[in-house]
Amino acid sequence: MIKQWTAMGAVALAAATAGGGAMAQDKIKVGFMLPFSGTYAALGNAIENGFRMHVAEQGGKLGGREIEFFKVDDESDPAKATDNVNRLIKRDKVDVIVGTVHSGVAMAMARAAKESGTVLIVPNAGADAVTGPMCAPNIFRSSFSNWQSAYPMGVVAAKQEGKKTAMTITWKYAAGDEITGGFKEGFEKSGGKVVKQLTLPFPNVEFQALLTEIAAAKPDAVFAFFAGAGAVKFVKDYHAAGLSKTIPLYGAGFLTDGTLDAQGEAAQGMLTTLHYADELGTERDKTFRTNYAKSYKLMPDVYAVQGYDAAQMLAVGLKAAGGDIGKKDVFRTAIEKATIPSPRGDFTLSKAHNPVQDMYLRKVEGKENRKISVAMKALADPARGCRMQ
Ligand code: PHB
Repeated sequence: MIKQWTAMGAVALAAATAGGGAMAQDKIKVGFMLPFSGTYAALGNAIENGFRMHVAEQGGKLGGREIEFFKVDDESDPAKATDNVNRLIKRDKVDVIVGTVHSGVAMAMARAAKESGTVLIVPNAGADAVTGPMCAPNIFRSSFSNWQSAYPMGVVAAKQEGKKTAMTITWKYAAGDEITGGFKEGFEKSGGKVVKQLTLPFPNVEFQALLTEIAAAKPDAVFAFFAGAGAVKFVKDYHAAGLSKTIPLYGAGFLTDGTLDAQGEAAQGMLTTLHYADELGTERDKTFRTNYAKSYKLMPDVYAVQGYDAAQMLAVGLKAAGGDIGKKDVFRTAIEKATIPSPRGDFTLSKAHNPVQDMYLRKVEGKENRKISVAMKALADPARGCRMQ
């Protein structure tokens, strides 16, 4: 019996050595911390789909290492975020955390990643702080900063659309504050004035009182940040209240992304800005959309793209490090220097590890967010407060 064990050990060791060391035997553990329930559930699913699709396209391996997945439903609840992320870091001992959607949850994750040194790739949450004061060598984002998603819409609303006054409406939390803040900055720098900023608690969808206030104030335009199921309800309620006929509703593109099947007539003609649009027409995007539709029997959205690109970023780092994520400097430098061939168009990372990317102006036509123009080319987040080591 003992002899048998020894023999098996020798075989395993030989295999490990042939594969480039003992590390080559283990799988890379990827922990998804995403919302799989609640108003952002569809977003979490799309991110997971996109990530898994890239891994599948690479034959199940990144940088020569097989991938093993772990999952936690974060419910978009900041109060549970530290416990949830520690489940992945301490219990499952993951090598990489991929998450999340909600900015408040993401900030707790960034804190835990900074303390533990675990690699964190943020596939959505735009919290400005994550690539601002909380920036760190092991924290990367494949999505956007909140400011970045909305600043261009403010400029377009004032300069191209000629609007002078606007009201904003959103959920009261980091993403809502920063996205409407980005719009306000762009709008007011371009000569407009935000006359009132309306909020309600996340994830409430009782919009009627606020819609009545908008109807009474009659601004030239309204800018909103909502996403997921909340965005569906808001756009429908705005339309049902008769407001879309008189006061154009603008948004960061989250307001109409992955939601058009459900929003239908209510969303037609809406203008938004975002770092992705449907049918960009490039070969890269066409291949991505075809594969996604085949794999999941549904069309991809911006969240699927961000999940896919999180896997691409991990692949770049792992490949450079020969599959050894412990080679932190090599891993990090490779991602910092890379150009990521995203379905959205190529992007690079800023010093703070946030995408530097084109922001599209899009218009809803049928079930698509059609690209009208590039509202801002290679837009970089200002990364206020980031001191990268
Ligand atoms: C965020 O909380 O940062 C957030 C959530 C959903 C979005 C965009 C940003 O669609």
